[in-house]
Amino acid sequence: MSVTPKILVHGGAGAMRSMGGEREAAYRAGLVEAARLGREALRAGDALEAVLVAVRHMEACGAFNAGVGSCLDEDGRFSLDAALMRGSDRAAGAVGACAATVHPTDVARALLEEGRHVLLVGEGAERRARALGLPALGAPPEEKLETYRRLLADASKRAPEDLSTVGRPDDEQAEDSQDTVGAVAVDARGRVAAAVSTGGLWLKLRGRVGDSAIPGAGLYACDALGGASSTTGIGERMIRALTAKLACDLIAAGADAQAAAQGAVDDLAQRFGPDSGGIVVVDRLGRLGAAFNTQGMGRALASLGDEAVPVAVWPEEPFPLD
Ligand code: GLY
Repeated sequence: MSVTPKILVHGGAGAMRSMGGEREAAYRAGLVEAARLGREALRAGDALEAVLVAVRHMEACGAFNAGVGSCLDEDGRFSLDAALMRGSDRAAGAVGACAATVHPTDVARALLEEGRHVLLVGEGAERRARALGLPALGAPPEEKLETYRRLLADASKRAPEDLSTVGRPDDEQAEDSQDTVGAVAVDARGRVAAAVSTGGLWLKLRGRVGDSAIPGAGLYACDALGGASSTTGIGERMIRALTAKLACDLIAAGADAQAAAQGAVDDLAQRFGPDSGGIVVVDRLGRLGAAFNTQGMGRALASLGDEAVPVAVWPEEPFPLD
């Protein structure tokens, strides 16, 4: 089987009310560069390396809710989740509630390669990040702490039944929100891979781990099923719906990548209503899919042999997936 190697990245689904101007320009530029770097890795023929370098770029860039741009938990601290999955053997590595490094996906990569454990959380993940010599995340910058204090003050004014929505991607009252980054790729031999990385949700409880650390929920990759997927949205929903695995099951049942992406988002909408999330999908034939039911979801793609890197944020923007 010969396939045109491709990568499709997303920068998180959400309300994105404060997009525009420099912020949106940085977000779009980060997506384009992530897809471009992924395409370079695909030249060497490795889908896993492609999704890793793409997500690492978004972790380092600051324009996304991942790595240095991550949101803060209820204590005003970073707590990152991330995972990688390789379709050829379903090998996976994941970390949850890790504050030790800008690049939790590098810890996930080490776990995937070692094959002993799939998921490390909290202190264990942080110890591994330090042992790998990964760049430290450090303390949250003042700009993040200002948002944290504002959201905390907002939460104190809300009715108890509204508290669980503060700062979430579907928060009607929030000034802004956006969720998680991810990537899916296929190489020339039709091998697929997926990656995901996030700061999670603003004001989440200390120790909360979301879908981005859980294969089947936040990502899935399986050559035998025929594809890979990476999700974005409120993780508790993807964990309950196993959204990423559902997309791959739809491919195995005969759907192309776009139908699988739409089917997974339709399932979320049916269970949880509008503004429930988004997904990117690739199948082993090199077909791509992207779907979301939030106000926006940044996405960019790059194919070997084509210099163009289409990028889009809003639903009405043209985004040719062929
Ligand atoms: N989807 C990211 C999270 O819920 O943590």
